[in-house]
Amino acid sequence: MGRTLATVLVVVLIILAALFFLIRKPSIAAVETPAASSFSAEQVERGRVLAGIGNCATCHTTAEDKPYAGGRDFPTGFGTLYSTNITPHPENGIGRWSRDAFVRSMREGIARDGSYLYPAFPYTHFKNLSDEDLDALYAYLMTLEPVAYTPPENAMHFPFNLRFLQWGWQLLFFDSKPIQPDPQQSDEWNRGAYLAEGAGHCTACHSPRNLFGAEKKGRAYAGALIDNWYAPALNPEQPVPVHWDTDTLYSYLREGRADYQGVAVGSMGEVVHRGLQRAPDSDIHALAAYLASLAGPAKVDGAARRAGELIEAAHRRTDGDRSHGENLYISACAACHYNAANNPMALRAELSLNSAVTAGDPTNLLRVLLQGVPADEGSPGIVMPDFASLSNADIASLAQFLRKRANLPPWEGLDKRLEELRQTLGQAASHAGEKQ
Ligand code: HEC
Ligand code: HEC
Ligand code: HEC
Repeated sequence: MGRTLATVLVVVLIILAALFFLIRKPSIAAVETPAASSFSAEQVERGRVLAGIGNCATCHTTAEDKPYAGGRDFPTGFGTLYSTNITPHPENGIGRWSRDAFVRSMREGIARDGSYLYPAFPYTHFKNLSDEDLDALYAYLMTLEPVAYTPPENAMHFPFNLRFLQWGWQLLFFDSKPIQPDPQQSDEWNRGAYLAEGAGHCTACHSPRNLFGAEKKGRAYAGALIDNWYAPALNPEQPVPVHWDTDTLYSYLREGRADYQGVAVGSMGEVVHRGLQRAPDSDIHALAAYLASLAGPAKVDGAARRAGELIEAAHRRTDGDRSHGENLYISACAACHYNAANNPMALRAELSLNSAVTAGDPTNLLRVLLQGVPADEGSPGIVMPDFASLSNADIASLAQFLRKRANLPPWEGLDKRLEELRQTLGQAASHAGEKQ
């Protein structure tokens, strides 16, 4: 009996030791911060463009005067995480990280000291970046102004605060193999795939996630809620009735607007107007070519004709029945959003063709109504006023009228979602105009 127990103990110890060595990652020695002059201007510029495409600044900046110094909060179901300081400050930032330590973090999600990083940091996408692109990003980050700022401590609940548990997450959900070019496709398409799946991490917002926060396999680009915005499907399930093609995608990703599908607001406004701004035209064309292929084969009838027919049908549904929703649309929205059927214009976003109205989730329409689109969001300098002072009942009638106008069934759960969003945005529901 004593013998058996001893054997079991030894086996358990061996398994634990083996697991420990499997899980444990070595720390990588600290280095002196490399001198800015050790990088070529060309490399730094390439890194700047990539940092834009990767939206590094959006997640790693909380104050304009402290770019890349971290501190942005990421509320998760398991507690709150804060982004880190990635300026080359030797104590607060990554100034003592060697190129190899940086590359390991981007490809394997392991920090310099060997601890596991959480996948709120999209290393699950950045692993696809080439050596040259990672070198360029490293060069760019190391030439930033070092900022002496320490982000708040993470507040993850036990046991999720134990970083080594990420080993299990990686085992289940992370495939470290980088994306391979598809020889059946053009160079442009492959470039687009590399940008979208790598630096651009488009599916990080556009794909639904499972309970553990990993993107669901087989549901890439199927649309998802993220930070209280809805990133619409871009696969064949896309909610826009005039499907995206290379021309409309190019104009949306370059200018932030497309004549039939509308404008980029919310987090997508940042992606376009801050992130992709410095990317060369060839890269935007490549992204458009790749994304257009996700939508499936182009529709037979031309986009312009289909848009025209749909707008005419929407005009017929604004039939003067003087429902409350229709009256609100005509008095509050039509002045800026009415389009002639043969000439819809992006900045007059045609609401019957727009995913804010046609998606199964009302979040984007409600947010735009509650917050408007200030001059520094969406298209630079262009403003849409907010309608937060409308009562919840008014907003609901208006929203359901817009659904009817686009020939779609009413949204379910609209009132609840509206209440939630008011709360998230810190707005008290207005009851002005409601009968007592
Ligand atoms: C969606 C938000 C998001 C984006 C986009 C993002 N990061 Fe991060 N990043 C984070 C978070 C959150 C952490 C902290 C993770 C943790 O503590 O485990 C982090 C951590 C890191 C780390 C580890 C630093 C350390 O001190 O441990 C590096 C390096 C890094 N990011 C670089 C980048 C670069 C380069 C880009 C752009 C190409 C980028 N990040 C884009 C959210 C983001
Ligand atoms: C931080 C989250 C986020 C990231 C990253 C992101 N998107 Fe988006 N995207 C959104 C949101 C939110 C919307 C809805 C914006 C709106 O309605 O104006 C959107 C809208 C879009 C649309 C318009 C869809 C429609 O039907 O209205 C396209 C096209 C698009 N994104 C492409 C991309 C591409 C390409 C990338 C990667 C380079 C990307 N997105 C990365 C959040 C994101
Ligand atoms: C004074 C003009 C004006 C009025 C009135 C107005 N809008 Fe807008 N709206 C705009 C502009 C301009 C934009 C584009 C903003 C940008 O690109 O920054 C916009 C954007 C939007 C978007 C985002 C579209 C997208 O593609 O993501 C929605 C949805 C929207 N408006 C709905 C409405 C509704 C509903 C009303 C009526 C309650 C309304 N707007 C009233 C000017 C207006």
